[in-house]
Amino acid sequence: MLNSFPSLHFFQMEVTKSPNKSNRRRFVLPSIFFILFLCVLASINEARFDALLKFGRCSVAAATTSFDSSLVNSSSVSNDTDIRILIGILTLPDQYNRRHFLRLIYGTQSFSGAKIDVKFVFCNLTKEDQKILVALEIMRYDDIIILNCKENMNKGKTYTYFSSLPEIFNNSDDGGSYPPYHYVMKADDDTYIRLNSLVESLRPLPREDLYYGYVIPCPSMDPFVHYMSGMGYLISWDLAEWIRESEVPKKHLEGPEDKVFGDWLREGRRAKNRFNAKWSMYNYPEPWTGCTHELWPETIAVHLLKNQEKWIRTLTYFNVTANLKESKLYHIDA
Ligand SMILES: *[C@@H]1O[C@H](CO)[C@@H](O)[C@H](O)[C@H]1NC(C)=O
Ligand SMILES: *[C@@H]1O[C@H](CO)[C@@H](O)[C@H](O)[C@H]1NC(C)=O
Ligand SMILES: *[C@@H]1O[C@H](CO)[C@@H](O)[C@H](O)[C@H]1NC(C)=O
Ligand SMILES: *[C@@H]1O[C@H](CO)[C@@H](O)[C@H](O)[C@H]1NC(C)=O
Ligand SMILES: *[C@@H]1O[C@H](CO)[C@@H](O)[C@H](O)[C@H]1NC(C)=O
Repeated sequence: MLNSFPSLHFFQMEVTKSPNKSNRRRFVLPSIFFILFLCVLASINEARFDALLKFGRCSVAAATTSFDSSLVNSSSVSNDTDIRILIGILTLPDQYNRRHFLRLIYGTQSFSGAKIDVKFVFCNLTKEDQKILVALEIMRYDDIIILNCKENMNKGKTYTYFSSLPEIFNNSDDGGSYPPYHYVMKADDDTYIRLNSLVESLRPLPREDLYYGYVIPCPSMDPFVHYMSGMGYLISWDLAEWIRESEVPKKHLEGPEDKVFGDWLREGRRAKNRFNAKWSMYNYPEPWTGCTHELWPETIAVHLLKNQEKWIRTLTYFNVTANLKESKLYHIDA
């Protein structure tokens, strides 16, 4: 845990690269405090942290503070013809390390012809330490949405998420583009999404009345029977507006969230455009079930990455570090 020297080294390198001196000063100090916070927190309360990210606790934190947050926002210059996508990863306030890990995962991907915002979504904060730590994260990354709901109520977080979006991203006053996002996605925090594959699969699809994902039950290939798996599904903006306004979801909030979501669309006769992304989306191959598939190149998303080994094998398979630039500063054998 105290092996943070190499990462602090990267951190300095990045800082020196930054062309803007005042900017540099502005974030060095908060970042260092932030890292210290995480280290202290990790050592005090290890049990609360997910075993997934045992590796390089504080060094991961240090490394993430050094990458440009605009990468998480979007890796391409925005363009009116670009597809605009919001990926909301539903998680819990205390999952600090998971968020830092996912920022690395999404911040290092490249894609073109799209603007993708990855945001972490949770309900009201409940603890004093969260008010400081989450606020610091927001100051640094600005990629968190806190909904007006209570965590663990096990009903309606999905409803709150989708139905809040039209108001949260209402930019009709400042003349922003409409819709703010063509597509909004709900994803799990144990899902690995390959952004470029996602964008390419969406490019030919309608931008209205669309429901996209991995259809449940697993053997089914018919997107109208029954609903999309919670690993990650995506709807067009008009459906988020419909969820906000319609009486159908309001009358039917209880139950397994993703199944209930499918029920709303059926009851409301919505989503006449559907796209089943199976088998480009699938569960990690082990344990083998009817919902899995071996890793293969045409992948949009891999789900159930429940431990570090599964993440590492997946990231290795997809050659995510192949573009690591050469430098005298480090040596990592392939
Ligand atoms: C995200 O992008 C918007 C517009 O492109 C920009 O104003 C905002 O500062 C960016 N946020 C982060 C965290 O980079
Ligand atoms: C916007 O993107 C399209 C397709 O990717 C490209 O043909 C066009 O030249 C771009 N326009 C600008 C202003 O960058
Ligand atoms: C969430 O927090 C806001 C602001 O503090 C409060 O107004 C609201 O009642 C809370 N919602 C729930 C469901 O606890
Ligand atoms: C968006 O803002 C406009 C203008 O302030 C308002 O009329 C409209 O009701 C808002 N829509 C939502 C969904 O909040
Ligand atoms: C990863 O790289 C290896 C070696 O260059 C290549 O054979 C393989 O096809 C790549 N895998 C993917 C998923 O692109």
